[in-house]
Amino acid sequence: MDGLQRDAGRKYPSFDNIGGVMKRTWKLMLVTAFAAAGLLSIFFNRTEAVAAGKPVSPRSLYVQNCARCHGADGKAQTTLGRKLEADDISGGLNTAKTTRVVTNGRGSMPSFKRKLPAAKIRQIAGYVRTL
Ligand code: HEC
Repeated sequence: MDGLQRDAGRKYPSFDNIGGVMKRTWKLMLVTAFAAAGLLSIFFNRTEAVAAGKPVSPRSLYVQNCARCHGADGKAQTTLGRKLEADDISGGLNTAKTTRVVTNGRGSMPSFKRKLPAAKIRQIAGYVRTL
C-alpha cells in the first residue's frame, strides 16, 4: 500500500514496481515464517512430538532416549555408558523394573518422569525386554 501511495504522489503509477514490492514483502514474510518455525522446532521438537501422541516406534523412543548410554543393543558399551558405568540392560529385563528406573532415575541415570509420559516409558520398557 505504501508503494502505491508513493508512486501515485510521484504521478507515475508503476504497477510493475508495486508487484516488486509485494513480491519482496511476501518473500520476507515467508522467510520469517520459516525461520520462526525452524527455531520453534529446535526448541520443542521431541517433547512436542511425544506430547502430541504422534506415533513414534518404541525402538526409536529407545534410540532417542537411552542408546547414548545403553547402546542400541542395551549392552552399555558406548563411551558415555562406560564412563557412567551404565548397566547392561540386554537379556530380557523385567518391564516393571525398567519402568521404575526410567521413571525415577538411579545413580547417574537421569529420571525421565518429566521428559516422557508414562505411556511412552511403558513402550520403551516393552522394547527393552526384547533386547
Ligand atoms: C546418561 C546416561 C543414561 C541414559 C540416557 C539412560 N540410562 Fe539407564 N542407566 C544409566 C546408568 C549409569 C545406570 C546405572 C545406575 C546405577 O545403578 O547407578 C542405568 C541403569 C539402568 C537400568 C537398571 C538396570 C538394572 O539391571 O538394574 C535400566 C533398566 C535402565 N538404565 C534403562 C534405561 C532406559 C530404558 C533408558 C532410556 C529411557 C535409559 N536407561 C537411559 C545411564 C543412563
